[in-house]
Amino acid sequence: MRSPMFIEGMEEEEILIVDDTPTNLEVLFDCLDDAGFEVVVAKDGESALHKVEKEPPDLILLDVMMPGIDGFETCRRLKANLDSKDIPVIFMTALSDAADKIAGLSLGAVDYITKPFQQEEVLARVKVHLQLRKEIKQRTAAEAELAKLNQKLEKRVSERTAEQLQDAQLQQLVQKEKMSSIGQLVATVAHEINNPLSFISGNLTHAELYIKDLIAHLQLYQDKFPTPGAEIADHAEDIDLEFLMEDLCQLISSMKKGTDRIVQISVSLRNFSRADTKNKVAADIHEGIDTTLMILKPRLKARKNIPEIEIVKEYGELPLVECYPGQLNQVFMNILANAIDVFDEDSIGRDGTKRKANHDIITICTEANSQHVTIRIKDNGPGMSSEVIQQIFDYLFTTKPAGKGTGLGLSISRQIVEKKHGGKLTVISAPGQGAEFAIALPLNC
Ligand SMILES: Nc1ncnc2c1ncn2[C@@H]1O[C@H](COP(=O)(O)OP(=O)(O)OP(=O)(O)O)[C@@H](O)[C@H]1O
Ligand SMILES: [Mg+2]
Repeated sequence: MRSPMFIEGMEEEEILIVDDTPTNLEVLFDCLDDAGFEVVVAKDGESALHKVEKEPPDLILLDVMMPGIDGFETCRRLKANLDSKDIPVIFMTALSDAADKIAGLSLGAVDYITKPFQQEEVLARVKVHLQLRKEIKQRTAAEAELAKLNQKLEKRVSERTAEQLQDAQLQQLVQKEKMSSIGQLVATVAHEINNPLSFISGNLTHAELYIKDLIAHLQLYQDKFPTPGAEIADHAEDIDLEFLMEDLCQLISSMKKGTDRIVQISVSLRNFSRADTKNKVAADIHEGIDTTLMILKPRLKARKNIPEIEIVKEYGELPLVECYPGQLNQVFMNILANAIDVFDEDSIGRDGTKRKANHDIITICTEANSQHVTIRIKDNGPGMSSEVIQQIFDYLFTTKPAGKGTGLGLSISRQIVEKKHGGKLTVISAPGQGAEFAIALPLNC
């Protein structure tokens, strides 16, 4: 847009007088010229418009009655043009023309002066409107600058938000990828263990039978030939035959217990990592919690400077729940891992004598009613301030040092519980009061 430039103190303000009466022109010209304005004149509407277009003045004094297009039409055209619509127009009317004054003002003129002119009045009105115009221009410029700054700021904010979102999405992908590759690895290991395991446990059963048979056979020999001779008696003594026969059976049964345990672990691992089908399946929630606990076992045991974490299970009667078990295991894992994290952090610096007094406990309660299954995981750790509670489910919110926490565990957990299962994941906590996470899952989800 072309707009008249006015630089205070450097350029005279330019006023255009439009009047077809030479005496009027002369009086006004002298008055304004003497006051230090640059004055341009036009004798009719057309030439006034032409002059405005070529060089927009800072103010226009416009006569109403003129040959050709009159003052009103001139004013209407000035106001209709973007380049000239903001130039203040002052009408010049005869004292008696009240209707003209109203018409002029309603066309967008800022003021009127009456003929015959009072020089002081003309000057005063012209100055007031020039001043107003100057202030409006300054304000408009300031507003435009502000709008520009605002725009820049908004752009920066949206760029930052986009960056953060991308970052969060990337992190989430990494976490998902990590979970799925861990899941695959666990599943593969569990599967690979299975074959050799079944040789051992299957053969152990046979070995036990064979050994029992051999021992029975040996005993038969001993009965039938109580005096086998010095060489055999000496050897029996050397190898402590009595003890060996007794111990061998116990040894076999403890080996069987060991392999049974490995079989259990392998089943749990496969359960934990089970790739979820596209559809929900009816699953035993307790089994999911137990396998998760089993995987976390190394972190629950007492370690250097870190006391054992006790797990208290208060399991109620639960029906099978239609769900994605692998994903729910991930939720249990995230919540339990957080509790273990706070205990670990809390233990650093705790001296040995205090440990017993601050016995770390995670309590897991489950219950069901006709509509919901609720799993509560509660710790007696340091708890959280209300400020932290408000943010824990936010993307990337973490209080852990860089590299230790990504701040995704709970936000992903909430998505799994609420979006995937139509449930609710909530927390109750206060500083010094521990934290209790409640997972409510609808039974008919
Ligand atoms: N049981 C708890 N007691 C105290 N604070 C907790 C507990 N569980 C979570 N928090 C707080 O909530 C924050 C967010 O937890 P979240 O699991 O989402 O992320 P993170 O554990 O920091 O990182 P990530 O799980 O991605 O490795 C934690 O940094 C911690 O401050
Ligand atoms: Mg976490």
